[in-house]
Amino acid sequence: MGKIYVFDHPLIQHKVALLRDENTTTKDFRDLAKEIGMLMGYEATRELELKKQTIKTPMCETEVNVLAGEDIAIVPILRAGLGMVDGMLSLVPNAKVGHVGLYRDPETHKPVEYYCKMPQDIDKRKIFIVDPMLATGGSAADAVSLVKEKGGKDITFMCLIAAPEGIKALSEAHPDVDIYIAAKDERLNENAYILPGLGDAGDRLYGTK
Ligand code: URA
Repeated sequence: MGKIYVFDHPLIQHKVALLRDENTTTKDFRDLAKEIGMLMGYEATRELELKKQTIKTPMCETEVNVLAGEDIAIVPILRAGLGMVDGMLSLVPNAKVGHVGLYRDPETHKPVEYYCKMPQDIDKRKIFIVDPMLATGGSAADAVSLVKEKGGKDITFMCLIAAPEGIKALSEAHPDVDIYIAAKDERLNENAYILPGLGDAGDRLYGTK
């Protein structure tokens, strides 16, 4: 079973509280999603490989640890996932970005795919799929399946808010995937929205309704 990591860092909790507030403006929501994405990325990249390198400080020669150069891909699920990309890119600026387009059928609540474009060497990359809301887990599980179909192997999923139902569905469908969650919520409502949640993440990021 993959790791399920729920953040307890005070900065993340504070920023998630601001995100939830219905009075938070579109601009602030976008800034917060980016900041939380960056803070989460800091932890989610903890296991990146290091290698030894010899350098000279102004004082002497020494051996230091540097990143081994593991290639990374960030894969937002469109459109709300885009809100977490810049925060991640600020940590790993050389990462490539793939995109998965999925929307929820309003009747069935099932994900429908309309776009998928990955870096060509996705099979060799450490992949972070990002989507702010892990609700039913349907889109997340489908996105992971799509990325695997394209060759992706080493996959981590990152979200801002998760419902227990979504965590269960995703971890059962893809037990090899680690899940990083900024806040775990109570449950889904009858329309598959997360409670207490923050509403529709895409609408709040882009000021649409
Ligand atoms: N997607 C959202 O944007 N919000 C939810 O609560 C659930 C899915």
